This record gives sequence, structure tokens and C-alpha cells, in this order.
Amino acid sequence: MQVMYKQLSKYYNDVLGMTSVQTDTETNLLDQVFKENKVKTVLDVGCGVGRHSIALSKLGYSATGLDFSSDQIKNAKAQAKRECVDATFILGDANKFSIKKKYDAAICMWSTLGEEPMQYPRVIINVFNALKLGGIFIIDNKNWDAVSKNPKIREDSLVRDGLSLKRIMQDRYTDHFRIRLATFEVNKKKIEEICITHLINKNEWITELKKAGFKNFSIFYDYQAKVEKDAKRIQIVAQK
Ligand SMILES: C[S@@+](CC[C@H](N)C(=O)[O-])C[C@H]1O[C@@H](n2cnc3c(N)ncnc32)[C@H](O)[C@@H]1O
Repeated sequence: MQVMYKQLSKYYNDVLGMTSVQTDTETNLLDQVFKENKVKTVLDVGCGVGRHSIALSKLGYSATGLDFSSDQIKNAKAQAKRECVDATFILGDANKFSIKKKYDAAICMWSTLGEEPMQYPRVIINVFNALKLGGIFIIDNKNWDAVSKNPKIREDSLVRDGLSLKRIMQDRYTDHFRIRLATFEVNKKKIEEICITHLINKNEWITELKKAGFKNFSIFYDYQAKVEKDAKRIQIVAQK
């Protein structure tokens, strides 16, 4: 979704319908797990416009957001400034990053780990290396064990601040991928792009995480501790 992360970065939360309620729901789970694990420092991988880094900083965590889109980083920094929050944002590619500092925790939220161009096996290893021993990694993805893989077309639009946006998303599926053709009409200019998501389910994520050395997994569904077979989203907590 490079259009969303570049030309439309400023409208990212609006276009994706990321309300503060949604961010609070996600952050409440992070806070709960972090408290149980005495986490103080957090690396937010693929941080976007900084939803979680900003919310976590407000709760007293030292949060660092990493993203390879300069627009996302610029808008994250601007939002942190507006909210008088002391979060750090770094421009960098999660497929290649190596940071000297070791963190108590890392997060990769909103299906980011399974979406190209994130190369999830590499990113998992890079995150493992960026964590302290005993540090935790929380990933948040679609629950592909339950979510429908039927072809689908979704249309939405947004008019705001001189922006007129229409978006059509056509999803189709292979055994291993969701292929999304997204057509954006931004102030009457058409942009098309293809977004590829790996359809990785709970057991496959755990296998990947184990390969990198992670252990002690706990699973949450729709940001809650209860097991919900039909939950749309899954969160996996893994320990180094
Ligand atoms: C679906 S958005 C999620 C953003 C944020 N985690 C959230 O929940 O709001 C995915 C983000 O990952 C970033 N991203 C994708 N591939 C990346 C990579 N290889 N390295 C760093 N960031 C990447 C994109 O620029 C985008 O901001």
C-alpha cells in the first residue's frame, strides 16, 4: 500500500478508519503484557504515523518507531510534537535494520509483518537481535484461520481538507496470498497498486518465530485474553 504510506500518509488514520478507540483497544493489550513483563523500552516496527509509539509514550514507555516511509516518519514526528509526546522515530528498513540499542519489547502491529515488502523471516530475525534476553515481541495480524478468503470488492471515499479520495479494493486469494488491487482516485488523479499479503495462520507464525529462537508463546484474539474461534485478528506474544 505504498500510496497510503506516501502520498496519503497525512490521511492514513482517516483512510484506514483508525479511531482513537481502536488504538486504545490495541494499546491496552500492549500495556497489560508490558506490565506483566516489566517492559520499559519498546521498538515499534513499521510504526506508520506512530499510533502505538505515541500512545505508549503517553503511558510512560520509552518508544521508538521505525518505518521506511519518510512521509510516515515525518507525520509521526509532527503528531508526537502536536501531542507533546517524547517518542523517537527512525527512518529505516525493517528487512535490513540493525540498531545497537537492545529493547525490552518490540511490536509489529496491524498486519504489517505479513505484508510485502516486509520480508517477515528477515524481520523476525532482526527483531530477535534487537531484543534483550527475555525481551518480548508482539505481532498483530489478521486471523487467517477464521477470516473469509472469498474474493471481495470494497469501495470507500473521503472528502477532507481539500482532499477528495475514492478507493476501490479488489481482493482475490491464492493458497498462500491475498492479492489486492487498490485503485485510488486522489483529487481526480488515478493511482493503481497491487498489495500482497501472506496468509499466515497462528501455527505458521509460531513456527517462524521458533526458527528465529523465540519461545514461550501466548495468544490473544481481538486484543483480549479469551479464545474466540471467529475473531478477526490475532496477537501473538513471543519471548527471546
Ligand atoms: C499497515 S501499516 C501499519 C502501521 C502501524 N503499525 C499501525 O498499526 O498504524 C504498515 C507500515 O509498515 C511500513 N513498512 C512496510 N514495509 C516496511 C519495511 N520493510 N521497513 C520498514 N517499514 C515498513 C509502511 O511504510 C507502513 O507505514
